[in-house]
Amino acid sequence: MSATANGSLTITLDGSNKSSKLPLIQGTLGPAVADIRKIYNDLGIFTFDPGYGATASCESKITYIDGDEGVLLYRGYPIEQLAEKSTFLEVAYLLLNGELPTTAESKDFEDGVLRHTMLHEQLRTFYNGFRRDAHPMAVMCGVVGALSAFYHDSLDITNPEHRRISAFRLIAKVPTIAAWAHKYNIGQPFMYPQNNLGYAENFLYMFNAVPAEPYHVNPILARAMDLIMILHADHEQNASTSTVRLAGSTGANPFACIAAGIASLWGPSHGGANEAVLHMLGEIGHVKNIPTFLEQVKDKNSKVKLMGFGHRVYKNYDPRAKIMQATCHQVLRELGIKDDPLLDLAIELEKIALNDRYFVDRKLYPNVDFYSGIILKAMGFPLSMFTALFAVARTVGWISQWQEMIEDPEQRIGRPRQIYTGAAKRDYVPLAQRG
Ligand code: ACO
Repeated sequence: MSATANGSLTITLDGSNKSSKLPLIQGTLGPAVADIRKIYNDLGIFTFDPGYGATASCESKITYIDGDEGVLLYRGYPIEQLAEKSTFLEVAYLLLNGELPTTAESKDFEDGVLRHTMLHEQLRTFYNGFRRDAHPMAVMCGVVGALSAFYHDSLDITNPEHRRISAFRLIAKVPTIAAWAHKYNIGQPFMYPQNNLGYAENFLYMFNAVPAEPYHVNPILARAMDLIMILHADHEQNASTSTVRLAGSTGANPFACIAAGIASLWGPSHGGANEAVLHMLGEIGHVKNIPTFLEQVKDKNSKVKLMGFGHRVYKNYDPRAKIMQATCHQVLRELGIKDDPLLDLAIELEKIALNDRYFVDRKLYPNVDFYSGIILKAMGFPLSMFTALFAVARTVGWISQWQEMIEDPEQRIGRPRQIYTGAAKRDYVPLAQRG
């Protein structure tokens, strides 16, 4: 279903006889959107929306969020149902293709992904160019971008088959790239993918195993990893996805676009938040220090934030955070971690913050990162890998959104305007006549 016209909005420029009748467009769900494309021609003005909080940048059929109600749908399916009943690869198929796969389609897709898990052998040597302590996100930006130098046979973005193969390659290779970034950090040999293992299972294998002995992936942890990946697979037009679309709007190849998305995800206001949550819990140290910490958070001059709380779109409980909280307890139980001081601290912090006027008035609820950091730490991932794992899962969302954009007949190069507040036109002053 496409967006449909649904009335109009007329804007009149005060003090003039100029007006612009803007069509209102209605999607399947969500508020109507005013199409402002002709406002400059009609009124000679631009619109101003820093951070794009009130601007729809594209039409999309992939993911829907209702931030007030705490709803997240992938292709119409509630995240709670997918988390309970589906697998990451099935969700990947759904995001890319729009429908859940049949048995045959599912097998084809899984075979397709699993057959592309190896990296070009030359890429191994690429890792040696990094310092041993390189952040895995730095390695991922570099190596994912470098894929475009290795897979010349699939770079024609106007060719649907090339787009399909690039999508397979990206989804299949990012776990290998991320796991190898970790192995490089700790000085262990790279582990090649095992195509008889499931997607999340294979990632845990490459991350944990060593060639010297057999390694069996704990199925409960593989399922938890798969679930974490489902929850992070897509989230409509967030900063990194918009980055991928903006880069892709120029006709750049998908490997370069996903590398741009990884760079955008890295920041602590976005994908880097789960890493920041753990740093924050470490700094708070003990339940008794929570009140002092929250005073700093509320102090306008301190710049301290309660990491893992708040979201640009969710002004209610992030539905992914609820699922993550339950998984967190299950993983800690499976690992035999009964009294985890960080978890106790997180639960107490959540309880206090949810009852504090500052957070209640601003509708600041825990987001997905509040609990994912604790689970990932319990599973043995170093802090620096947290955002890299997010990037592995989000790659499918990015590539689905990129593909949708390339196939959109209305797609144009992304080119925002600005309010210029710099110097007015002036003449060059020769050096000898300055100051
Ligand atoms: N701690 C304390 N105060 C906060 C927080 C927070 N985590 N988040 C927002 N606020 C306050 C702001 O200071 C502001 O207060 P004011 O009205 O008194 O000035 C008010 O709440 C509104 O905040 P905005 O900055 O307008 O919210 P915005 O939508 O721009 O920011 C963001 C969203 C970036 C996620 C923010 O909530 C934040 O930085 N949270 C912590 C980082 C985090 O957890 N990021 C993960 C996001 S989810 C993801 O990427 C998967």
